Amino acid sequence: MAREFSTVGVVGLGTMGAGIVEVFARNGIDVVAVEISEPALERGRATLTASTDRAVAKGKLAAADRDALHERVHFAVGLPALHSVDLVIEAVPEHLDLKQRIFAELDRVCRPEAILATNTSSLSVTEISVATTRPNQVIGIHFFNPAPVMKLVEVVRTVVTSPEVVADVEALCARLGKVDVTINDRAGFIANALLFGYLNHAVAMVESHYAAREDIDAAMKLGCGLPMGPLALMDLIGLDTAYEILDTMYRRGGRDRRHAPVPLLKQMVTAGLLGRKSGRGFYTYERPGSPVVVPDEATPPATEAGLADGARAIAKVGIVGSGTMATGIIEVFATAGYEVVSVTRGAEKSATVCEAVKTSLNKGVVRGKLTEADRDAALGRISWSATLDHLADVDLVVEAVVEELSVKKALFASLDEICKPGVVLATTTSSLPVIDVAMATHRPADVVGLHFFNPAPVMPLVEVVRTIRTSPEATATARAVCAALGKTGVVCGDRSGFIVNALLFPYLNDAVKMLEASYSTADDIDHAMKLGCGYPMGPFELLDVVGLDVALAIQRELYLELREPGFAPAPLLEHLVTAGYLGRKTRRGFRDHSHR
Ligand SMILES: NC(=O)c1ccc[n+]([C@@H]2O[C@H](COP(=O)([O-])OP(=O)(O)OC[C@H]3O[C@@H](n4cnc5c(N)ncnc54)[C@H](O)[C@@H]3O)[C@@H](O)[C@H]2O)c1
Repeated sequence: MAREFSTVGVVGLGTMGAGIVEVFARNGIDVVAVEISEPALERGRATLTASTDRAVAKGKLAAADRDALHERVHFAVGLPALHSVDLVIEAVPEHLDLKQRIFAELDRVCRPEAILATNTSSLSVTEISVATTRPNQVIGIHFFNPAPVMKLVEVVRTVVTSPEVVADVEALCARLGKVDVTINDRAGFIANALLFGYLNHAVAMVESHYAAREDIDAAMKLGCGLPMGPLALMDLIGLDTAYEILDTMYRRGGRDRRHAPVPLLKQMVTAGLLGRKSGRGFYTYERPGSPVVVPDEATPPATEAGLADGARAIAKVGIVGSGTMATGIIEVFATAGYEVVSVTRGAEKSATVCEAVKTSLNKGVVRGKLTEADRDAALGRISWSATLDHLADVDLVVEAVVEELSVKKALFASLDEICKPGVVLATTTSSLPVIDVAMATHRPADVVGLHFFNPAPVMPLVEVVRTIRTSPEATATARAVCAALGKTGVVCGDRSGFIVNALLFPYLNDAVKMLEASYSTADDIDHAMKLGCGYPMGPFELLDVVGLDVALAIQRELYLELREPGFAPAPLLEHLVTAGYLGRKTRRGFRDHSHR
């Protein structure tokens, strides 16, 4: 028989605590909600009220249920109010000494059979537990932000947590409608161990002016389907909390430099820029606690597509190549109204590409996305050629040939001879340095990267890569073209992986390392990222789709260029690739897909 929890206590009503109170009270459990002072208590109460009022306004909660929910919550200052609860969850700031002091006092105040739980993200539950005389009744219950919304709970058992306590807490999570993964006490557990290196890396990109905050966030949302970008997420987590988590993970997790908090973070915390809760972090908010972003001095000015920042007028576009990307990009430009010259290596290839574009456009017609007249007009705008000479009068060239530097360099040298002055020359490379390609011409200022995602007609993101020689006009032109294509162009520097791959693949690689270390299972890790962080796919699902060979190649390049020890490809990934387990395309990767 699982233990009955009729009253629980929550200590600390900040970002997490207030949400945790709501989770319990919504599920019919009485809560004693405790803070350090009257003003802090009032803030916590106001957060709970605002959250439940929002739920009522959105029709997710009946007004009567909200009132009943509030009646279940008893607010108090000081821990003695917790004398008769069955379980306490502590959610005070991420400092070991503070948590240890609180647990020592909870141990004195609470009934001997009460379970004492911490919501810590990164501290050792074991170290917290030894501050009490009942370490076997101490456990981690790690909720995700926002607690009422996110389905995942990580239940953290130490070597001394009693199995009954673990089972009781698991049953409690189920009662709360949460999905739990039970794991051992390791820095960052599953989700944060995989998340925070990525978040810190995104902050480093801001700090080094590699890309703008809006562009980094848009890249991860549109390129990976994440619910929010890393900087918006940092603001939601709270920069002070994020700093402490990183710092602890760095110290506890083997001094991985990727967890050493980026200096900018410390500066922002010291300056009181804590994120949403203080009204300003990476973004500026309407007021403290508000999710509404308002413009500030770093907000890019709204510009009219094609006219801003010296962007050049583009009417005719040359597209070189005959593969998947070239085919998709031809379709994208032609449907957006550009005159397109497709250049392939021969009439046969042109015919194949032409067929593929027709098929894709026809699908669009069947799905009601464009009319037959639109389709015919788009096809009418494309001319097919097997010689680069036909690019003499285009305004923009997009190169999408094989991913080999020598081939691309030779092509750009030819384009340099053939194209008129002022043309923007773009490469779609996903891994080669754009500057290498640019320097094959005598006009590196006009060369940019235009990194489309596959399938190009569907994916809304394009990374615009500017090299150290790219002119502002060429960058502005590329960005304006993306807007005219109905895509979001994000501008970044010329580094391996640009924004998306540089942030995505190390995270996937870390997931493989976690699996390899037998800390958790592929299923639980996938669950944790989907239910705890709202990712559309877990890392192993995604790796099987992307292809393990592709992931390994990208990860190797990141490692080679950045020399970051933490980027070294996971041996398990290398072995699976060697064994020919490449993912869905070979019917086996991390999972067996042969029966599907
Ligand atoms: N922010 C997140 O996204 C997130 C997610 C999961 C877990 N966590 C973890 O939850 C915990 C709380 O983080 P947070 O972001 O909610 O912090 P927060 O700073 O938003 O809130 C902490 C609250 O604790 C109160 N407090 C401080 N000392 C206290 C005391 N002695 N007695 C009672 N209350 C006290 C503060 O007044 C404040 O309201 C941390 O361990 C953190 O790692 C945070």
